[in-house]
Amino acid sequence: MGKKILVTAALPYANGPLHLGHMIEYIEADIFVRFLRLKKENVIYCCADDTHGTPIEINAKQHSMSPDEFVNMWYKKHLHDFKAFGISFDSYYSTNSKENKEYVELFFNTLKNKGYIYKKSVEQLYCEKCKRFLPDRYVRGTCPKCGAKDQYGDVCELCGATYKPTDLLDMRCAVCKHKPAIKHSEHYFFKLSAFEDKLREWLIRNKHIQEDIKSYVLEWINSGLEDWCISRDKPYFGFKIPGEDSKYFYVWMDAPIGYIASTANYCKGRGCSVDDYWKAEDSEIIHFIGKDIAYFHFLFWPAMLMGTGFNLPKNIIVHGFLTIDGAKLSKSRGTLVTVEEYLKFLNPELLRYYYSSYLSPSVRDIDLNSEEFKEKINNELVSNIANFIYRVLSFINNNFGSKIFDIMPNGDDKNVMSKIRTLIKEAEKSYSTCNLKNVVRCINEIAATGNKYFQENEPWKIVKSDTKRCATVLAIAANIVKNLVILLKPIMPNFSAQIESQLRLKQLSWSDLNFGLKNHKIAKPKIILKKIEKLAFSDPFMKLELKIGKIREVFDHPDANKLYVLRVDIGGEIRNIVAGLKQNYGKRDLLGKHIVVLTNLKHANIRGVKSEGMVLAAGNEKDWGVLLAKGKAGEAVYVEGIAPRPAREITIKEFSKLELVSKNGKVFYKGFPLRTAKGFVIADKNIDGRVR
Ligand code: MSP
Ligand code: ZN
Repeated sequence: MGKKILVTAALPYANGPLHLGHMIEYIEADIFVRFLRLKKENVIYCCADDTHGTPIEINAKQHSMSPDEFVNMWYKKHLHDFKAFGISFDSYYSTNSKENKEYVELFFNTLKNKGYIYKKSVEQLYCEKCKRFLPDRYVRGTCPKCGAKDQYGDVCELCGATYKPTDLLDMRCAVCKHKPAIKHSEHYFFKLSAFEDKLREWLIRNKHIQEDIKSYVLEWINSGLEDWCISRDKPYFGFKIPGEDSKYFYVWMDAPIGYIASTANYCKGRGCSVDDYWKAEDSEIIHFIGKDIAYFHFLFWPAMLMGTGFNLPKNIIVHGFLTIDGAKLSKSRGTLVTVEEYLKFLNPELLRYYYSSYLSPSVRDIDLNSEEFKEKINNELVSNIANFIYRVLSFINNNFGSKIFDIMPNGDDKNVMSKIRTLIKEAEKSYSTCNLKNVVRCINEIAATGNKYFQENEPWKIVKSDTKRCATVLAIAANIVKNLVILLKPIMPNFSAQIESQLRLKQLSWSDLNFGLKNHKIAKPKIILKKIEKLAFSDPFMKLELKIGKIREVFDHPDANKLYVLRVDIGGEIRNIVAGLKQNYGKRDLLGKHIVVLTNLKHANIRGVKSEGMVLAAGNEKDWGVLLAKGKAGEAVYVEGIAPRPAREITIKEFSKLELVSKNGKVFYKGFPLRTAKGFVIADKNIDGRVR
């Protein structure tokens, strides 16, 4: 096998769930790797969880877990999310591993022996109460520039000013709110300054690194590099520094070394070694990262590799940040969509397609826009690509006994075939430079060419009169289908596998991109993708938590003659709910009904009785009926295309603003019906009006 290629993606912190921003990178690198595999290149894709540092140590404590338990929990969740998105790592490891410890010590000792590491005393903020030195992010106070309250120790979120934590007015420990003191501590420093010339030379000579990145890294170097503090005092979750008993390696020292540890994990029992990837001359290392961690990957990391004699990366592909409907991802503003939430309402391969259509080696941000998403999926993927595939395969199925015959091309056919060969060449070049946006463009142009060819040749008109010609048209179209599937494999592996099996072809690879498929029987085609009717990544409706509830008991309210008190099963939990249904229903009528409950409505006390949610009903001032839903108690009630992201609590006012209505027995939000997995929600009594 030829040269060995190692592809890595940045190691996500084992400190929280993966969100759609993270996925840009793991998807981009995964598509690149799958392309190389299709070309039979000798490539592996390695990654790991980044498990060390102060935030993880503190968060574990706040969850009453040991740091080990905490990072193991996230490790499992991350693996699950990656699998759901088809991310095909060859090794997914952890920086909290024995291999990583060994390599960190090797790096440290080698660099120290070569004189690249020295000790120096530094001043730092220390919290006497928490008994810890405080990283900048753990100091809070008033911004010295604009006076904004409760800002971090390094940058003001309001005015953007940067400063030292000691510049903050009324600085406090972020954990316990005590005023920290200044204390001295000895720390280890890595002599980054000694690598200025070598780094500059490496960058200038490298032909692969993106120009936009190159110029700003060169600017950093030209303005002078400062040495880098690589140790932290206890308490800390990380590896101890050899010969010290209260000092640890800073997380960013051992994190990139995690790429090597993950390679070691891959090589275990496989007859290869770390050196085959990290020291051999005929190997290539390619890192994928986000723009926020460029400093670490273009300066610290290469300098560490230079100082220890490991190979430098051939390329570092940098992407921009994700925004959702134009807004930055922010948990508090509700614009952060986790992988888990996404999986509840959309097919992950649609996101792989969407991201691809925007990705190229550039630090430009990518917007996940509901309207554009819908348009790309409906007009490109479904109408142009998937419909063409289905149309061709059904025609062969219905008219040629599922058989593809030989191609006897005329002049026009030859032009079409040569146009497609040219587009395939272009797609290949774009894949190899990670210009996925252009790959998607080529794929769509091939599908459009196929559609046009099919349409213009009108096979339905000649199937009887000129069966031979018709067979050629279908054989050419079937080969276009096959080529489309191969080109789509890295982006949509699952969709492609299903079409492969409809074609009765197994494991098509890059060398199958041709017009050579003939005398072959296919299977019965099926429709795999459908158009999206409604889609919103951010919508106020998301805040609602609506569940099917089963009414178990009904009582009269002791103190109000129009109210009932219901005991409602919402799936493993019984809620007490006060409802104004007495004038509309007898007790018996309600018992056992499957209704819709707003479960995250702010709890209230209604005339002395606790009410933990609201039973939804629709109608007018005079009469109203409860909403009925099919399914088991506890199952979700939703609108297709809107991701559920319930707020902890919502108010009745917020709910009323959404203006849910009933019409002809169904219930709608902005014209889209409420439903469960089993069918549409029904308005009992069929009275048109508002839902309340
Ligand atoms: N642990 C470090 C990386 C160590 S690599 C030796 C880290 N972790 S992270 O979880 O914060 O981010 C992991 C990757 O996801 C980074 O490349 C980061 O740029 C990327 N992204 C995190 N949030 C993102 C967006 N909102 N948008 C795009 N990419 C994002 O950094
Ligand atoms: Zn404190």
